Amino acid sequence: MAFPEGFIQELKMRNDISEVAAPYVTLRRRGRNMVGLCPFHGEKTPSFNIYTENGSFYCFGCGVGGDVISFIMKIENLDYVDAVKFLAQRAGMAMPENTYDDSMSKLKTRIYEANREAARFFYNTLNLPVGKSGLDYLHGRMLSDRTIRHFGLGYADDDWSSLTNHLKSKGFSESELIAANLAVKRRSGGVYDRFSNRVIFPIIDLRGNVIAFGGRIMTDEKPKYLNTSDTPVFKKSENLFSLNNAKNAGTRTLLLCEGYMDVIAVNQAGFNNAVATLGTSLTSEQAMLMKRYADEVIICYDADEAGQKATSRAIPLLRNAGLLVRVLTVPNGKDPDEYIKSQGADGPAAFAALMEKSGNDIDYRLQKLRADYLLDTADGRVGYLEAAAAVIASIQSPIEQDVYASKLCKEFEIDKNAFSEQLKKLSRKRYREDYRKQQQKIRTELSGRGDRIDKDRAKVPRSSSAEEALIVYLIKNPDSASSIEEQITSDQFQNSLMRRYYEYFLQRIKDGKDPLNSISADFSGDECSKVYRMLSKHASVAQTKKTLAEYIKVIKEESAKLKRDEVENMSGEQLNDYLKKIRDSKK
Ligand code: UTP
Ligand code: MN
Repeated sequence: MAFPEGFIQELKMRNDISEVAAPYVTLRRRGRNMVGLCPFHGEKTPSFNIYTENGSFYCFGCGVGGDVISFIMKIENLDYVDAVKFLAQRAGMAMPENTYDDSMSKLKTRIYEANREAARFFYNTLNLPVGKSGLDYLHGRMLSDRTIRHFGLGYADDDWSSLTNHLKSKGFSESELIAANLAVKRRSGGVYDRFSNRVIFPIIDLRGNVIAFGGRIMTDEKPKYLNTSDTPVFKKSENLFSLNNAKNAGTRTLLLCEGYMDVIAVNQAGFNNAVATLGTSLTSEQAMLMKRYADEVIICYDADEAGQKATSRAIPLLRNAGLLVRVLTVPNGKDPDEYIKSQGADGPAAFAALMEKSGNDIDYRLQKLRADYLLDTADGRVGYLEAAAAVIASIQSPIEQDVYASKLCKEFEIDKNAFSEQLKKLSRKRYREDYRKQQQKIRTELSGRGDRIDKDRAKVPRSSSAEEALIVYLIKNPDSASSIEEQITSDQFQNSLMRRYYEYFLQRIKDGKDPLNSISADFSGDECSKVYRMLSKHASVAQTKKTLAEYIKVIKEESAKLKRDEVENMSGEQLNDYLKKIRDSKK
């Protein structure tokens, strides 16, 4: 996968990173750099930095960093070649021909095409005799033809080969259908349809591509829903059903439902800002995705116990993503779809009233707590107030804390001062805990424990630090490469990741290339981030010839030292060589 160096260089020059990032992050100028709230993790104070002078970004909060290409890869969920295409198009540049491996990109395009054709096929089947049971089922669930068309709902008949045959006749190969998870390999050879005898819900991404399907069985058999497994174009933990509709709803509020049918029923009732996860519980990626299109999320999960549990799990994820959270409670243990239907013609108005009534997450938590205490006993009231104080103490804003405290004290006719004392105590405790966690995090980071990709750091901390500093020096001072290479060979590196970086950057510099130009092609996202973490860690340290000499000395010492256990088994001659090496390294 090699784009010409010059092409990538020009691509980066024509795509100023702060302009490329602007639609995704609100940036403020700070000195020569720009800062904003990180789009890759939830935070309240900005630690996402853009360094315009070298076209890179780094977030001190989550440790993600890279160049403009890695930024687009990450934020748009694209692989390297597609991110390059995206930026080339943005800058009006033609792609170079035949110089890069775009087989993955081509496969993805085929999967999109196969999915689109499959969606059309499923939809058309609804109006054939063989699709009548599917259409009857959807009508039976009170969906109008307009809604069916709007969501492109369809039907997979019970033949197990209709779709496969159709797509083959359109020129798709079996391996393409398997890659799309539209067909499954048969043990005896050949393939069969993934979906059969189910009504079909296509899942469409933000660019309008059909990326996956959900299929509901029309009886009580299990599994109730079958979904496309993860494919090159689909990760269920990173997508939301109907976000393609909801993002154009013209509001910064999203309704988060539990399932396909709820989203569709809520839509039919006139609210097109509903989304749902795809058969898994909410992830932080999905919360960050919502944050891109919304300021507020109303959780509309089922009223059953599973739904309430899921609500409690979702609240902190959404809050952490910086979203305001409200919780809508559907009465009588129903889900939104059942509720809207049960209200007949008044469904839309009744649902709107529920939305109106929905309290925020704190109200919801306080309300739920009530059920755990017998409020007509003194003990019960004390227990509830203590638990409620813990909830209120978890609120960041002191003003918001005060609002809830006042309300509660009034209701229970207790002394506000006593309650405030309790809150202060709990807030201090929380502060201490946060502080302890933060210190722990710093210690873990310094020791190298918990660094997923740099596993050697904890084993060889001293050499790792020196090796890291040397690599930063090398990147920033490419003209010193040959002198460094004369003094240190890569096999003297104790840390295998640092050794790879060293060999890589040295080679690029020797080839006369900008060391960082192709980094997002040649390393994984995490490895890329690590390089930018190293660069920003050393950004405020003045690196001079003198500090360079120090790094080299440490690396030599450590590489000699580690051989110590080998020393015991050495012959006299080997020992002499070894001692000479140590003396040399001390010079
Ligand atoms: P529910 O069981 O609440 O179904 O699952 P539902 O959405 O109310 O559907 P109906 O009304 O019975 O038709 C909620 C969501 O969980 C996922 C689906 O995304 C579903 O919409 N799910 C559920 C699965 O992926 N597989 C299953 O077997 C069940
Ligand atoms: Mn339902």
